[in-house]
Amino acid sequence: MAKFQPLQAPKGVSEYYPDRSEIFEYVRERLIGSAKSAGYQLIELPVFEDTELFKRGVGESTDVVSKEMYTFEDRGGRSITLRPEGTAGVMRSVIEHNLDRGQLPVKVWYSGAFFRAERPQAGRYRQFYQVGIEAIGLNDPEIDVEVIAVAQRAFNNLGLKNYSLEITSLGDKESRARYSKDLRQFISTLDLDDETARRADINPLRLFDDKRDEIKSAMSRAPILMDYLTDESASHFARVKELLSALGIAFTVNNRMVRGLDYYTGTAFEFVHHGLGAQSGIGGGGRYDGLMAELGGAELSGIGFGIGVDRCVLACEAEGISLPESAALDLFIVPISPASKGASVLLAERLREAGFRVDIAYGDRSLKGGMKAADKSKARLSLVLGDDEVSSDTAQIKNMKTGESRSVKISTLHQTLGENI
Ligand code: HAM
Repeated sequence: MAKFQPLQAPKGVSEYYPDRSEIFEYVRERLIGSAKSAGYQLIELPVFEDTELFKRGVGESTDVVSKEMYTFEDRGGRSITLRPEGTAGVMRSVIEHNLDRGQLPVKVWYSGAFFRAERPQAGRYRQFYQVGIEAIGLNDPEIDVEVIAVAQRAFNNLGLKNYSLEITSLGDKESRARYSKDLRQFISTLDLDDETARRADINPLRLFDDKRDEIKSAMSRAPILMDYLTDESASHFARVKELLSALGIAFTVNNRMVRGLDYYTGTAFEFVHHGLGAQSGIGGGGRYDGLMAELGGAELSGIGFGIGVDRCVLACEAEGISLPESAALDLFIVPISPASKGASVLLAERLREAGFRVDIAYGDRSLKGGMKAADKSKARLSLVLGDDEVSSDTAQIKNMKTGESRSVKISTLHQTLGENI
């Protein structure tokens, strides 16, 4: 029996190791590429923040804050929380470092791990990955459309097809105040348990998100926000729809969409994939026009999205999308004598310095074993190195795809490798 029990990762975290890490990296880079193509710049933030940031920023009525935060006291007695989402941290940083005093809009992207203590299931993890963007300081419908288009292009770049976009408007402060009055009035006629009533009291919209059948059916009779939009909110939303159509971006309006975070105002959207079962949201976002002021900053508006990298990986797999074929390595060296092992390391380092991707068959392998490793490595070329090759400075280089071999000079291999062999 083994002396020590092997350990396992904590429940519900997502992990990517070879070979599946390849598709994860591919997906993440494509998502980031779409953000960069529209001028968004990297913002790299801490994975933990003062708990107060999320309470104030994300909202105490949300499941994310009330049930799902990883909160602990640090050694200095401060309450710290692992970030459950990215927007609040971006706002904190923009305010703290006065980024909003420069040119507007501030356009940033981020990528990394986020943490929510949810019940794990396929596509829902306690540590998961997002790529997100935020555009801060502009209240034009054009920027809403840019943000949605960046997400859409990201999915298209991955080759995804089986998904759709839902949009809504959650209105401005005035629309919300008018609506809230009627919605609260409606909710007061329902027979709710204390906990639900408390949540509804903080944010009555939350009841649209309730999964229980009796609440769902009661809420189907509730007034909807779209009917309460001020002229300004309504014309902003109309312009967003018009521009999306002009861009050929298909969407449906979902009047009952409630995002899981409290900061949203105005345009909100979700991308839903149809091959993922219950956890179908591959990305979502919207405007958050009061958030910055609420966190102690200027009265600036903002809009952004978060795309779930894990769910995009699952979506690619569900649609049978495979990675574009490309060799992982330029050359795989197979040493077949003790002396040539050292020569292989020297040669590999020299070629890597010249910019080539090179690996070696380590360990005392037979020629057959070494060539098997070369095959597995997905290298474009392989080279067998024995004592004769080292002393004559000549070796056979093999094209792994065609099987053809040709003789090369080892000392000038950095030149020959660049040629089409
Ligand atoms: P969110 O809708 O909570 O928005 O999350 C965005 C995306 O992250 C979801 O659509 C989903 O793909 C992924 N996601 C969320 N929770 C999990 C989980 N437990 N496991 C796997 N994937 C998950 C936000 O986080 C906002 N900060 C987005 C935003 C940016 N709004 C404005 N700016």
